[in-house]
Amino acid sequence: MTENDLMLTSILDCRRVDLALNKGYLTSSQKLKCDLMKARRAEGEPLQYILGQCDFMGTALSVDQRALIPRPETEILVDLAIEKIKSMREEKTLNVLDLGVGSGNITIALLKNIVNITITALDISDDALALAKENASANYVEQKIQFSCRDMLAYLKDSAHSGKMFDVIVSNPPYIPAGLIHELPEDVRREPRIALDGGEDGLRFYRTIIEYGWQILDPKGFLIMEIGDGQHDAIESIFARYPRYAVIHFYKDYVGTKRVVIARMDAQWKN
Ligand SMILES: C[S@@+](CC[C@H](N)C(=O)[O-])C[C@H]1O[C@@H](n2cnc3c(N)ncnc32)[C@H](O)[C@@H]1O
Repeated sequence: MTENDLMLTSILDCRRVDLALNKGYLTSSQKLKCDLMKARRAEGEPLQYILGQCDFMGTALSVDQRALIPRPETEILVDLAIEKIKSMREEKTLNVLDLGVGSGNITIALLKNIVNITITALDISDDALALAKENASANYVEQKIQFSCRDMLAYLKDSAHSGKMFDVIVSNPPYIPAGLIHELPEDVRREPRIALDGGEDGLRFYRTIIEYGWQILDPKGFLIMEIGDGQHDAIESIFARYPRYAVIHFYKDYVGTKRVVIARMDAQWKN
């Protein structure tokens, strides 16, 4: 669908096929809405913020300036996470940790596809958490989520000290090197900087998550993360510092870039 079609289906609350039947007729208020949408788009605002919605794994989620717009690549992470969690064949309820929940896309998709999990959904941004709560409630999964407004570094340290354990950690952390953010397209720069900025080399959050992840993961657990373009060698080297991780596997996205990493714990490991 073209951007114009997407705006019209949103204004008319109809499907694309219905646009042809409508023969382009808009009331004056609908025309005004359409002109305003086009003006916002011409100003560089992301289309999804203007529509107020996006599709993630077949679910319509509300999106606005409070959080990153879910990307199609992140659906690969979710598909893999569903496969891994189901392969654990556990009958008990599994504890999943989503670091940097944003709009709630990953957490909600997991809960809609797996029955026996509860999720701790953490974000440093109050705004993002408010949006994630709205989306969780609209999808009837909020009872299975514990929301937490924390810095992930502090949370991971505290959990490691208190002995809190998880079966699976998922994360799509900010991974753009700080110095490259100004080169991103105008509409991407309209998304929250805190959702993009991965520190000087883009790897800040991977260092933290990998360092503490093994300390709070069950011996049969998995760490599943989305990664940025060309970051796989550096991330592999970070994993190599921690022998508790056994198999580390990278998965490619639709254009052949290594986009998701899954590390399994070494259940036989002895200190
Ligand atoms: C790349 S976005 C991912 C959002 C969502 N999970 C997705 O896949 O679209 C990263 C998220 O991490 C959050 N974040 C950034 N720094 C953080 C920190 N220090 N602790 C916890 N969350 C953080 C941001 O607010 C943002 O929502």
